[in-house]
Amino acid sequence: MQIDVILGLQWGDEGKGKIVDFLAEQYDIVARFQGGPNAGHTLKFGGKKYVLHTVPSGIFRPRQINLIGNGVVLDPVVFERELRNLEESGVAFSRRLLVSRKAHLILPTHRWLDAASEAQKGISKIGSTLKGIGPTYMDKTGRNGLRVGDVELPGFREHYEALKNKHLELLKIYPAAPFDLEAAEQAWFACIDTLRTLPFVDSEYYLQDALSDGKRVLAEGAQGAMLDIDFGTYPYVTSSNTITAGVCTGLGVAPQRIGRVIGITKAYCTRVGGGPFPTELDNETGDLLRQAGQEFGSTTGRPRRCGWIDLPQLRYTIQLTGTTELCMTKIDVLNTFAEIAAATHYRIGGQPTTALPYDLCQADLEAVFKSYKGWECALDAAKTFEDLPVNARVFLEDLEAYLGVPFRMVSTGPEREKLLLR
Ligand code: GDP
Ligand code: IMO
Ligand code: MG
Repeated sequence: MQIDVILGLQWGDEGKGKIVDFLAEQYDIVARFQGGPNAGHTLKFGGKKYVLHTVPSGIFRPRQINLIGNGVVLDPVVFERELRNLEESGVAFSRRLLVSRKAHLILPTHRWLDAASEAQKGISKIGSTLKGIGPTYMDKTGRNGLRVGDVELPGFREHYEALKNKHLELLKIYPAAPFDLEAAEQAWFACIDTLRTLPFVDSEYYLQDALSDGKRVLAEGAQGAMLDIDFGTYPYVTSSNTITAGVCTGLGVAPQRIGRVIGITKAYCTRVGGGPFPTELDNETGDLLRQAGQEFGSTTGRPRRCGWIDLPQLRYTIQLTGTTELCMTKIDVLNTFAEIAAATHYRIGGQPTTALPYDLCQADLEAVFKSYKGWECALDAAKTFEDLPVNARVFLEDLEAYLGVPFRMVSTGPEREKLLLR
């Protein structure tokens, strides 16, 4: 069997959680392959809203196994809170939620380091979610990290103390930042005990066996391709590979196992945190998008920066991810706009180009837009793609022609059932 992939093609928050939750029914296993509690994946059904950070978005489907892959960084405290919320919502997860032994643990001092590093950067800060993501992946690649499987080994406490002490030394290079380490540590070890109650697996073997047995697997991405550590708007990125290659390294599956790659884009574009954003609308239209789209972070509550959809950017990430089909979310957010727009190219120093330059921060980069007539009506009545107003279809078909990949799904609202298939 092949493993299908869902990932974000922009700067995160494309609506991955909703689409994974919808599609999960068609799979046996849903597996997160990278990122950590910096992610906030929102699901809405039965009149309720749920936000997941570490737990895969297939958890609300009763039959599906949900796997946290080796590429993920896990904060036991955030994770424990998520588990408690699931319990309160009556979700039975005990034998359906598996954790890779090779996933890395976020320590309290990783969060402290994240905060200290951001504070020191001042206005050039990344705008990190302050969840300790960067420092944890630094320890992973620096070969110092603590992994979930270490919890089962003798010497775990000593290993923890050694890493913590290293962090305390490192923290001396930063101006003092307040942090109650003792309280944080107590909570952390209590939550490690909760973590121990879940099944740990060697996820690469687990998934290989599952695929060989004909099980259907869906890989769930976090963040978006423009936040990829290698190909995103570096240094304003996250610390993992968010593109399809991250599925191979984050779950232990070979490239030829990759099947469908479903790339998700909003009908417009958002970004949270610092860094370049060529189509940003720092004006009333941007405010309108933020209000209509309720663009406030699921993890941090920060207002998201808003702008029009950026086609050269999407073409770039479609290529990097090998996207085989597209899903557009939040098209309903444009319902009240008389006119909408999409960037078709950039002008750099007056020269037109569709290639993303080495440094998107360049002062003389300008996005050039094509405008479309809005549809100015609600989409609630639409049950199929063909029911969409003609102007919405023109918009989608024109984008498709530019991007060279078909839209197979269009999401018209946050609720699970508001999805048009094509
Ligand atoms: P993720 O991180 O990619 O899973 O996305 P988030 O959950 O952070 O942000 C997407 C937000 O948009 C959430 O509040 C969703 O409930 C909401 N959402 C998802 N799809 C749609 C849609 O088609 N229309 C509207 N209006 N909201 C949507
Ligand atoms: P989901 O999965 C949007 C952004 C942060 C910051 C940068 C680095 O919900 O789409 P980090 O904490 O990773 O060191 O922050 O990346 N960022 C996200 N933006 N959605 C996310 O996840 C994000 N995860 C990280 O705002 O700019
Ligand atoms: Mg999100």
